[in-house]
Amino acid sequence: MVIVVINNKGGTGKTTTCVNLSAALANLGYRVLLVDLDPQASASLSLGVDYSNLSPSSGEVLLEGYSIEKAIRKTNINCLDLLTGGIELAHSDLVLSDIEDRENKLTEVLEPIKDRYDYILCDCAPALSLLQVNALIAGDHFIIPVVPEYLALEGLVNLMDVVERFKTGMGVDIDLLGIIINKLNSTPFVFLNRELRNQLDIVNLLREHYGDKVLKTTIKRNVQLTEAPSYNQSIFQYAPKSNAAQQYSQLAEEILMRCNGFNGSNQGLNQMM
Ligand SMILES: Nc1ncnc2c1ncn2[C@@H]1O[C@H](COP(=O)(O)OP(=O)(O)OP(=O)(O)O)[C@@H](O)[C@H]1O
Ligand SMILES: [Mg+2]
Repeated sequence: MVIVVINNKGGTGKTTTCVNLSAALANLGYRVLLVDLDPQASASLSLGVDYSNLSPSSGEVLLEGYSIEKAIRKTNINCLDLLTGGIELAHSDLVLSDIEDRENKLTEVLEPIKDRYDYILCDCAPALSLLQVNALIAGDHFIIPVVPEYLALEGLVNLMDVVERFKTGMGVDIDLLGIIINKLNSTPFVFLNRELRNQLDIVNLLREHYGDKVLKTTIKRNVQLTEAPSYNQSIFQYAPKSNAAQQYSQLAEEILMRCNGFNGSNQGLNQMM
C-alpha cells in the first residue's frame, strides 16, 4: 500500500510525519519503505544518511533509469528501508516533461518492489508539480499534515480542490486517508494563551468542514521532534517515553485502522470516507 504525505505548503510536518509514522509502523513489524521525493532530502538526512552519500537517490531512479533494487538501502530501524531524496529531483519537471508517460514514472519504478513492503510512504516536497502528480498517481492513499493557522486552512481548501481535479481530470485513483493536525500548542492554561485559542478555533473549523477526514490524533508542538533528526533518530529512538512518541504510536494505530477500513474489513469506516 502506497501512502503519499503531501501538502504544497511548506513546513507543515510532512517529513516529520513520514519519518515517525514509518518508524512507528516498522516498530510494529510491518515492512516499510520510505521514498524521499524531496530535493532537500530532509527525511533521508533525518534517518542518518550523510549529505555526501545520498546517491543513488530517488531522482536517479526516476529520471536516470538507475535500478530501484540497488538504490534502496536499510536504515538503523529494523524493517524500515529508504530510497533517498536528492538534488537531482530539483530538475524533475524539466526531465519528466520530455519523457513519455511522464505522470506514471513513479508507479512504474515502484512496481517491481511494491510487494516486498506492507507500506510505502512517500515524502513530498512542498509543491504541486509533476513529481507530486507522479506520487498521487502511484499512491493508494494520501495524508495531509496541516498546521492550525488561518492561512493553512485556505491552502488546504486549494490543495483538496487540486487533488479533486487530478482525480476527475486525470483519472487519479487515490483516497484521502486523513488530515493530521500538527504543531498544536499544548498548555494547561488555554484561556491565557491567545495562540492556542486561535489554534483551537481553526481545529474546530477543520472538524466542522472535513468531519471524520480529520484524524482524531493530533501531534502537539514538541521540541523533541525537532531535535531527533540531528541525532539521526526517530522520536521512538530519541525520546521513547515522550508525549510525541505516544502521539505517533497512536497515529499509526489510527492509520492502520483506516487502511483496514479501505480494505473492506471495517464497513463503517468505508461508508464514513
Ligand atoms: N509537532 C512538532 N513540534 C515541533 N516541531 C515540529 C513539529 N512538527 C514539525 N516540526 C518542525 O517543524 C519544521 C518543519 O517540519 P517538517 O520538515 O516535517 O515539515 P515539512 O512539511 O516536511 O517541510 P517542507 O515543506 O520544507 O518539506 C522542522 O524543523 C520540524 O522539526
Ligand atoms: Mg519535508
